[in-house]
Amino acid sequence: MGTKPMRVLVTGGAGYIGSVVAEELLRAGHDVVVFDNLSRGHRQAVPKNAELVGSDLADRGCLPPLLRSRRIDAVMHFAALIEAGESMKAPEEFFRNNTSNALTLLEAMLGARVKRFVFSSTAALFGNPERTPIQEDDPVHPTNAYGESKLLVERMLAWFHRIHGLRYAKLRYFNAAGASRPDQGEAHQPETHLIPRILQVALGRAKHVNIFGTDYPTRDGTCIRDYIHVSDLARAHLLALEALAVESSIRLIYNLGNGRGFSVREVVEVARTVTGHPVPVIESPRRAGDPAVLIASSEKIRRDLGWQPRFPDLKAIVESAWQWQRTHPDGYAQ
Ligand code: UFG
Repeated sequence: MGTKPMRVLVTGGAGYIGSVVAEELLRAGHDVVVFDNLSRGHRQAVPKNAELVGSDLADRGCLPPLLRSRRIDAVMHFAALIEAGESMKAPEEFFRNNTSNALTLLEAMLGARVKRFVFSSTAALFGNPERTPIQEDDPVHPTNAYGESKLLVERMLAWFHRIHGLRYAKLRYFNAAGASRPDQGEAHQPETHLIPRILQVALGRAKHVNIFGTDYPTRDGTCIRDYIHVSDLARAHLLALEALAVESSIRLIYNLGNGRGFSVREVVEVARTVTGHPVPVIESPRRAGDPAVLIASSEKIRRDLGWQPRFPDLKAIVESAWQWQRTHPDGYAQ
């Protein structure tokens, strides 16, 4: 480890990405307190050596004493609603859970003088980008309420930095995928993400996968995304945290992806190869709010923090997800 051990509060640490980051933090010698209301997360996903506080961010009273009693040095904030499609049906839930709860958390941090914050942000900020790969200072104009709910937090952070000296890292994930271990993986209920949905078909749990939109201005008419392995995302969090520990007036903004885009049809094809299953598809209408193409430039984090993805290959990403899904068809519920 490059820095002194820290005590890190990980909100959403029972979720898909938060639990992998919590484990990475522990491995690096930090202490971890997971804060999760378990509405989407899984108790079994929380690493054994982390304390689990089963509470809700909306409960304004519980955070200040917790931050103080555990002597928290830094907060990593993952707890959020994540389905872009759902945000176009119930935007109010996204603004409450993602935006308003983040403000509650930041206010509590301010009161407890916790100065380091790593924020789980998203490529959905960029909407339909003017160019790809997308760089950190490219214009933001979300096409869905999910992206907007996260953008509002990004904007608040800039003011908290300027006025209160908060040190922060905004990490904009492109499409998180894969499993860090065969017994720790993606288990959303309901599952809306492309790769796990395809794998459910390969497992015989669904008859076909819907392709949402075949008339996008892309090479095969389907949406293009940049898939990034969850362990590579986790590593980026650790590097960001360590950077926040050493510099006092610092704010970091990084896009996290592999710089390569795959269409929905191409992802299906890779999954067919990995699973040996035909994976039937049905061409369906577009899903509201989906941008056509999202591909990251992650040159900045490579340059600044020396981040290097270890699993940039889509086949390896899908293989790791398949190992988890095959052995855990019901997620953690077995
Ligand atoms: N898709 C299908 N069929 C499905 C599921 C998805 O065709 O059954 C398509 C979507 O329309 C989209 C692509 O596959 O074009 C990827 O969809 P996902 O739902 O897997 O992921 P999103 O790109 O919508 O969103 C994900 C995360 C967000 C994050 C975003 C960043 O859910 O939190 O990646 O790119 F912001």
